[in-house]
Amino acid sequence: MLLEEISSRKSVRSYSEQPISDEVLNEILEAGRLAPSWVNVQPWKFIVIKDEKTKELLFKAAGGQKQILGAQVVIGCVADLEAWEKKNFAAVLEKSGLGKYADAYLNNSTLNPSLIGKFEVLTRTIEQLTYATAYMTVQAHKSGVGCCVIGAFANEMTKGDENVIKELKERLNLNDKQILLTLLTLGYEKTPRETNKIRKEPAEVIFYEKLS
Ligand SMILES: Cc1cc2nc3c(=O)[nH]c(=O)nc-3n(C[C@H](O)[C@H](O)[C@H](O)COP(=O)(O)O)c2cc1C
Repeated sequence: MLLEEISSRKSVRSYSEQPISDEVLNEILEAGRLAPSWVNVQPWKFIVIKDEKTKELLFKAAGGQKQILGAQVVIGCVADLEAWEKKNFAAVLEKSGLGKYADAYLNNSTLNPSLIGKFEVLTRTIEQLTYATAYMTVQAHKSGVGCCVIGAFANEMTKGDENVIKELKERLNLNDKQILLTLLTLGYEKTPRETNKIRKEPAEVIFYEKLS
């Protein structure tokens, strides 16, 4: 049951030396690639990072979060703002069998955030990318691989060290419309520990018909 996977998943920050096979890594990446998105726009790119120098730079960008260095693989999840540009958006509509509606979609601000502004494009992109990262974290757990989501590192959102951001963007070959938003550190858990779900109570977050 999927709920079992969701309930037993936890952030894993300490990894063994055991490598992750390509087969298992591809399962995790597929979970992200197949995630749903707004009009199927898929504004994401995933960078598989194993290079020690890149990991060291990410470690520095993330204020010394050690799970980056210990990870067998880091998936760099990129928010791809270019996906909303007319040509790219139209291409994905065409591929989704919606080509004949392309003009209507592209000229409708409810469907096309580019008509409103940069803030809306950014927030919609992050909204979509979150589905992909969430799917990958659950698939990693299902595949027996420990994973930690890392959002606290220097990028355009956190306004960290500008030099580090620049160096990272160059190293990963990102342009100014591609933001490294989230890192997923992956590896087999070194010392297994119990899952301890600390969450708000159902009554605090679930309501029926209206908030009380
Ligand atoms: C978007 C996002 C960003 C996060 N950033 C970090 C981070 O920078 N470092 C870290 O150690 N954990 C990070 N986490 C993990 C959370 O701290 C963790 O998911 C939360 O405390 C719940 O614990 P659990 O994952 O074990 O259930 C992040 C989680 C999410 C969803």
